[in-house]
Amino acid sequence: MQVVSTREELREMHEDWRHHGNHVAIVPTMGNLHEGHLSLVELARQHAERVVVTVFVNPTQFGEGEDFDEYPRTLKRDTQRLKKLDADVLFTPDVDTVYPFGIDKATVVSVPGLTRNFCGASRPGHFDGVTTVVARLFALVRPDVAVFGQKDYQQQLVIRHMTVDLSLPIRIITAPTVREADGLAMSSRNQYLSEAERAVAPRLHASLQAIGTELQDGKRNFAELENSAWAKIEAAGFTPDYVAIRRAENLEPPDRDCDEIVVLAAAHLGKARLIDNIVVSI
Ligand code: PAF
Repeated sequence: MQVVSTREELREMHEDWRHHGNHVAIVPTMGNLHEGHLSLVELARQHAERVVVTVFVNPTQFGEGEDFDEYPRTLKRDTQRLKKLDADVLFTPDVDTVYPFGIDKATVVSVPGLTRNFCGASRPGHFDGVTTVVARLFALVRPDVAVFGQKDYQQQLVIRHMTVDLSLPIRIITAPTVREADGLAMSSRNQYLSEAERAVAPRLHASLQAIGTELQDGKRNFAELENSAWAKIEAAGFTPDYVAIRRAENLEPPDRDCDEIVVLAAAHLGKARLIDNIVVSI
């Protein structure tokens, strides 16, 4: 595996790959790789001859008072893990490579509508930071395929929208959420949890599953189901941010004959803000 950090190195490699007819997959990450990320790399391998993993803790997607400074940076360990997986390239650009005119003068890519609610409402500017950096990583790496995790459900929908809207010739693949044995979705932010909080954390997923079961049993009183899950996670010690039952394709409120639902939630637990979702066919 080659570790590169400049656009020139990437360009040279890209020319060589294209010359040999290789397709390129990108797995954008902010590092601190866990099994969830590694599953994205494995999936990327199935869709392209060359896999580029990017590690870049993107300053523009963190709001004021969020955890940009504390976000775990573990490049040495990440590199070792990726070598074992046989990724072709680890791309670790610095801020100047990603934002050559500086952050204040950066062109911003913004997706309206889909970013208005949920994480977009709780984290103003977050999705502009995500789409802006992902568009730049796409331009630098020039992939045919890009892999994102379902755990960030709204993020992957926003990126799909951006890709279609800008006619980017990139296929977006969404990979299933990887969970700990007790159901907690894997996330770099789980390490902010104390031991006691870690024991409570799986209740977020359990409350989503309970809604899923009710939906599959034919219940359609969506607001009541959301309120009851909210009360359950609050009683467990979380400070809920949102619990929502929505159409899986566009996050709009479902009507009674909608057949693919996503149940999404975000909640604070101690220092961590956890998000999770499940998709339910009804
Ligand atoms: O999901 C993430 O880790 C980040 O939002 C992403 C897509 C790498 C952009 O910085």
